[in-house]
Amino acid sequence: MKQYFKNIQFKEAIFCFILLCFFSACEENKETIEEKGRIVQNFNKNWSFQLGDHPEAKKDSIDLSDWRRLDVPHDWSIEGEFNEDHPTKPEGGALPAGIGWYRKTFEVPESWNNRNVFISFDGVYRNSEIWINGKYLGKRPFGYISFQYELTPYLKFGESNVIAVKVDNSAQPNSRWYTGSGIYRNVHLVAKSSVHIDHWGTSVATPFVSKDSARVSFKVTIKNSLDSLKKIQLKNVVVDQSGKKVASLKEYLQLSATDSINIGQNFTISSPKLWSPESPYLYSIETSIYQNGKLLDNVKTPLGIREFHFDAEKGFFLNGKHTKIKGVCLHHDNGALGAALNIHALERKLKLLKEMGTNAIRMAHNPPSPEMLELTDKMGFIVQDEAFDVWKKGKIKEDYQTIWDKWYEKDLKAMLYRDRNHPSVMMWSIGNEIREQFDSTGVNMTKELVAIVKSVDTKRPVTSALTENIPEKNFVWQSGALDLLGFNYKHEAYEDLPNRFPDQKFISSESVSGLMSRGSYDMPSDERRNWPPAHGEDFDGNDDYTVSAYDQVSAYWGSTHEETWKTVKKLDHMAGMFVWTGFDYLGEPIPYPYPARSSYFGIIDLAGFPKDVYYMYQSEWTYKDVLHIFPHWNWKKGETIDVWAYYNNADEVELFLNGRSLGIKSKKGDDLHVAWSVQYEPGTLKAISRKDGEVVLEKTIETAKEPAQIELKPDKNEMKSDKNDLVFVTVNILDKAGVLAPKANNLVKFEVSGGGKIVGVDNGYQASLESFKASQRKAFNGKCLVIIQSNGKKELVKLTARSEGLNSTSINIQIKE
Ligand code: GAL
Repeated sequence: MKQYFKNIQFKEAIFCFILLCFFSACEENKETIEEKGRIVQNFNKNWSFQLGDHPEAKKDSIDLSDWRRLDVPHDWSIEGEFNEDHPTKPEGGALPAGIGWYRKTFEVPESWNNRNVFISFDGVYRNSEIWINGKYLGKRPFGYISFQYELTPYLKFGESNVIAVKVDNSAQPNSRWYTGSGIYRNVHLVAKSSVHIDHWGTSVATPFVSKDSARVSFKVTIKNSLDSLKKIQLKNVVVDQSGKKVASLKEYLQLSATDSINIGQNFTISSPKLWSPESPYLYSIETSIYQNGKLLDNVKTPLGIREFHFDAEKGFFLNGKHTKIKGVCLHHDNGALGAALNIHALERKLKLLKEMGTNAIRMAHNPPSPEMLELTDKMGFIVQDEAFDVWKKGKIKEDYQTIWDKWYEKDLKAMLYRDRNHPSVMMWSIGNEIREQFDSTGVNMTKELVAIVKSVDTKRPVTSALTENIPEKNFVWQSGALDLLGFNYKHEAYEDLPNRFPDQKFISSESVSGLMSRGSYDMPSDERRNWPPAHGEDFDGNDDYTVSAYDQVSAYWGSTHEETWKTVKKLDHMAGMFVWTGFDYLGEPIPYPYPARSSYFGIIDLAGFPKDVYYMYQSEWTYKDVLHIFPHWNWKKGETIDVWAYYNNADEVELFLNGRSLGIKSKKGDDLHVAWSVQYEPGTLKAISRKDGEVVLEKTIETAKEPAQIELKPDKNEMKSDKNDLVFVTVNILDKAGVLAPKANNLVKFEVSGGGKIVGVDNGYQASLESFKASQRKAFNGKCLVIIQSNGKKELVKLTARSEGLNSTSINIQIKE
């Protein structure tokens, strides 16, 4: 008899027992059963939307003639105009919020009338309230959590049904960063058999991993919503990445009426291919339940086989290998697309980070979309999954504090159940810079939250991003409940942490907060600036709201990128760090007031263009050859210009101006770059890196003449006609000879025909008040971006860019099936 686990919630249920036998030995049962298993339908298309409060919309039928038709994911805030008086404030992105209503009419087939039907929302910001055919289903305040409702009792099978969703983001300010508003993640309709696998009802762990074999422990919760006994077969098949079966188990179970049971199965996989950021190998477990050979329900659970642990002295180990966590923090917005989820936008972000050498992401400061974690599994990132930015003591008026008491347990559990099977997730964070860390209430709250996590998952460490590094003053730490101590900023104290917190494990959960605008440079480059210098203190910023892209400016609580990385790199007890942030994000425009409306913290700007420091990380975090010199080469004659080079895999770099050597430089000690002071003259600046006298790389920058032409560089040349796929087109303003004009700010107008439409424009300038939803954009420091989405037509897409005084240009994007 195989081991099984009875769900304690249903302990009282009578007559539940498990029968193990072979499939062939099972009795025939004459009941009609669906043969299709689970039906999951994408529910994103054809919603009606209206801004403002429309209580009448919950009714069965209303006049929708002036409602807008759209598909979700949708974020209405990003469509608005910037204004510092919006209640979201510049901190929240200076875009409108308010209330909006969505409605969708849909048919449910007659054949579903013996199924249990659910609607599942991956995220609605915020305070969603939902009605089906006029019946109230409920309210979900937290804007980042996934949830579902059962529709079965209210549905009209074989007829038309109406779902109405009220989204209320009017209580402001409720966030320290841009949130977006609306049904901004995917929606699905799920039709299950009345005997089915529970929502988020599978869990997988790899308690033993070696090169020769791995033990996989798998649990599944099965529900019988009928008031009769059910005898079913459970089948689990482990398949490798190519779809080949590597293990399987079957067993017979008997479910009592309206019961739920947990079944555990163990598998052994020989010579497993291990999951790691370098080689994110994914197996999956296909779970099916049958009755009399007919499929009732089925789900797929990702399986990544890996062993990891944190060590107090040595940091982090993955599959036995010492691994430094080289991470970035990310907020959830996708720049010009706002909060609206698009997997291609996420993929582009992660690809850029991967190329930089990033191996980890901290989901700041809320549960991400399910697609984000699918991608981190697939592309290979170690994830810190974070539940909250505040507990009961809030940071701003309308944040999560207002719903803490009623919702924290449900929301935390929802994150844990939803995300527990992702191999990329390796840490649960119960909160960021939580106020309760400063008083004794923190002790019990931490204990309780950690206990909730452990009730769902005992395998991953629980952490919290702390700011207080004096033990006597930190009550979250004093709870003794955390497995891993995350410290934000104050890198000078990292060395001493083991003395202050003996035998503890450490990570820099947040660091740097360096400030930069892509392509803007202030000299002298070694003048270190804290902007602002202290809380509320004035500073002489730049008139154009830019911040120098030499790694010289940070918020007063932060550091430069080099300062923190040098520290974390040499301290073994620091498992690694998460830089604040990988990308600029909307909102939190420190250090400037409005019109600044997005952050300066990113290693990559909001449009997805790397700032120079990207190459510092690339030279340190990857093995590929890197040589990057900056700034641009358009200055006034006679000016003294600081030229920096990031490089690796070489002993030295030699710089040449118009063919004359300006000297050879090498990094000394823990240097992360070399620099020259150069009297500017127009022409060509060339750098050559060498190892043992052999050239490794050569890089040249040239003085640009007047802007003369537009270059369009798509990130791919074809897209699917699925109304979802995206092509990101980089727009460069070049001189006649093809050199990027580094200060060009020409207004570029776009036209698109065929199977594509423009869904966003941007240039990465943090103080631009131009709309993201336009067909034109000014360049910022020589560049802007246009995002094209397929519109469903199977026609070649032609994108044309025009700008006064410049040569126009066009590109084609192929449409594929
Ligand atoms: C941190 C905070 C982040 C962000 C950052 C900006 O203290 O955790 O959410 O506000 O500061 O530097």
